[in-house]
Amino acid sequence: MAVPQTMTYIAMHGTGGPDVMRPETGPVPVPKPDEVLIRVQAAGVNRPDVSQRQGGYPQPPGASPILGLEVAGEVVATGAEVRGLGVGDRVCALTNGGAYAEYCVAPEAQCLPWPAGYDAIRAAALPENCFTVWANVFMHGRLARGEALLVHGGTSGIGATAIHLAREFGASVYATAGADDKVAACVRFGATAAINYRTEDFYDAIKRLTEGRGVDVVLDMVGAPYFARNLRCLAMDGRLVQIAFLQGPKVENFDLTPVMVRRLTITGSTMRPRTTAQKGVIAKALLDNVWPALSAGRCAPVIHAVFPLAEVADAHALMESSAHIGKIMLRVAE
Ligand SMILES: NC(=O)c1ccc[n+]([C@@H]2O[C@H](COP(=O)([O-])OP(=O)(O)OC[C@H]3O[C@@H](n4cnc5c(N)ncnc54)[C@H](OP(=O)(O)O)[C@@H]3O)[C@@H](O)[C@H]2O)c1
Repeated sequence: MAVPQTMTYIAMHGTGGPDVMRPETGPVPVPKPDEVLIRVQAAGVNRPDVSQRQGGYPQPPGASPILGLEVAGEVVATGAEVRGLGVGDRVCALTNGGAYAEYCVAPEAQCLPWPAGYDAIRAAALPENCFTVWANVFMHGRLARGEALLVHGGTSGIGATAIHLAREFGASVYATAGADDKVAACVRFGATAAINYRTEDFYDAIKRLTEGRGVDVVLDMVGAPYFARNLRCLAMDGRLVQIAFLQGPKVENFDLTPVMVRRLTITGSTMRPRTTAQKGVIAKALLDNVWPALSAGRCAPVIHAVFPLAEVADAHALMESSAHIGKIMLRVAE
């Protein structure tokens, strides 16, 4: 299939509400030597896209100004240094922006094959959540078999993936969520127990559920109001991994005592500014450790809704409502 010169993509007219995003026509991107050009069939919507649209999370230098961090589709052209992929290969990719479009480039190192039996929607739902959870829960958080994990936002795309993967690797998981149907979903995903944080304090619940021991790792995206209680939830040698602060980054009157007495580690990271080589290391670990479980059907992405690309504003409005359970996806082409 010949690659056209122009494509439909979602342009941002300034920053603000979902209506700043509109379909437009623009040039098809040209792959750099280490990149492939993908004909996009599906793209994922992620909370960082919402933050970027609102003006709170500008793209790093060199990244595409077009929104979107993950795609699935077919390789239609390759850069001169690409060795392992060819035209016609089906890939899903963690992109450096640019996913809300009919064509998108991605470094070869950030591409993975579709797991066995997957379609484009399910394949596109994997990269952002799998890269983030692997890097934060397993690399920085060092979650090990037999340990216990507490995941906040258990029905977010990230949260559902964290529950699935922690269970797959032999950990027990506790999750928080803001509604009873979300609590039930966390248990369906494999959590030992889930806590409706609107009706029960999560620290009290974790102490009760773990008979006073606490958990080994906390994965948090809420931030300041949870910080002190997250530390109190951690067992000896526990690790707090901060991946966002949806309710603010600044903590005051922080008591260092538990960090010292219980030998705690406080860490965190963002995915986007990492180098291609660093993302490639994560991709290799996912291929070796997670892709077999996906292909065998032992874990799978949870798809809440699929919108046509042109209805991206509705997809963002749904994400901002927080009514979703799992992933919100964009269908770009068959
Ligand atoms: N550091 C990284 O590399 C990285 C990468 C990707 C994503 N992230 C972060 O991980 C988080 C989850 O991402 P996602 O795409 O999976 O998001 P998502 O599906 O939209 O889920 C976010 C959930 O967080 C909960 N929440 C708690 N406080 C909130 C608030 N003030 N505003 C909005 N939601 C709130 C909501 O669930 P309840 O109704 O249960 O409260 C909401 O459904 C986001 O904060 C995102 O920025 C970080």
